[in-house]
Amino acid sequence: MIRESAPAKIILFGEHAVVHGQPAIALPFPALRAHVSISESATELEFRSVDGSLLAAPHLPKKSDPLLLQMLLTVLRRLRIVAPEISVLLYSEIPQACGFGSGAAIATALTRALARHAGRPISAAEVNDIVFETESIFHGTPSGIDNTVIVHERALCFTRGTDPLPVQIDQSFQLLVADSGDRCATHIPVSAVRERLQLHPEGTAVILEDIGAIVNKALRVLASGQPLALGTLMYKNHALLGKLGVSSPLLDRLVSAAGSAGAAGAKLSGAGRGGVVIALVKESGSADVALALQDAGAVQIWNTTIQATN
Ligand code: PMV
Repeated sequence: MIRESAPAKIILFGEHAVVHGQPAIALPFPALRAHVSISESATELEFRSVDGSLLAAPHLPKKSDPLLLQMLLTVLRRLRIVAPEISVLLYSEIPQACGFGSGAAIATALTRALARHAGRPISAAEVNDIVFETESIFHGTPSGIDNTVIVHERALCFTRGTDPLPVQIDQSFQLLVADSGDRCATHIPVSAVRERLQLHPEGTAVILEDIGAIVNKALRVLASGQPLALGTLMYKNHALLGKLGVSSPLLDRLVSAAGSAGAAGAKLSGAGRGGVVIALVKESGSADVALALQDAGAVQIWNTTIQATN
């Protein structure tokens, strides 16, 4: 049996502005992964969940999830695999539509597993390119940040149309990742920002540039060995995302609850209008912040250490 997996991701700074050409910083979130396994089968190709339910099968289009069917067909076409007699199983720990890059992680694991099954060596760049194409099915106009950080599984600074740069992190730091429980498909807030840019081009462009400036400052802070100084930048980034119209009352409540409980910084992460909030904490105060986030409505909280890069 062939098994492959890929991690979730979080965006530390710069979501939305990255769609419009600004830089953004993304981190892999390996506490949650999508796993795909492939075994030979006597029947036609089927893509199933580990509980046995059918996700997608080219010969059963009406019973298939349309997005997962398109993902599967895209990967098969790009790998030039025709009518394989295999059973593909998916076990994903990554909640969907909440800023973790669930679709990109599934597509990455699927691409690697199908390439291995076909005996076809595949570079990270090619996996990235295929996953970017599948991302367009879900998001319409993705920047490419999700697939890039998930395929490379390392902290990176991403600007559309350029090679991603490794991010230097001089000292490790701790983040709480809090799920608001609200879900919103990425394309909805992304379209709202695009409309805002059309209606109010100058005001919106200033917000996007301010977010880009925060990302550049954050890169310097990450390399400086004083990661708690990221906190102020996180609050500023969150406020600018609010101005873009992609926060929500619940996300704002989670951010201010984290701040009142002593977090150095907090912001929404990902497309917004739901999904997750990240909070920068000192090890000693993380329990207080976690409790405050729970009281404010978080349905699940992960505590993760972002490791220094050298
Ligand atoms: O997939 P999400 O919810 O993490 O959103 C990705 C980040 C956006 O900047 C909002 C969209 C994009 O394509 O970069």
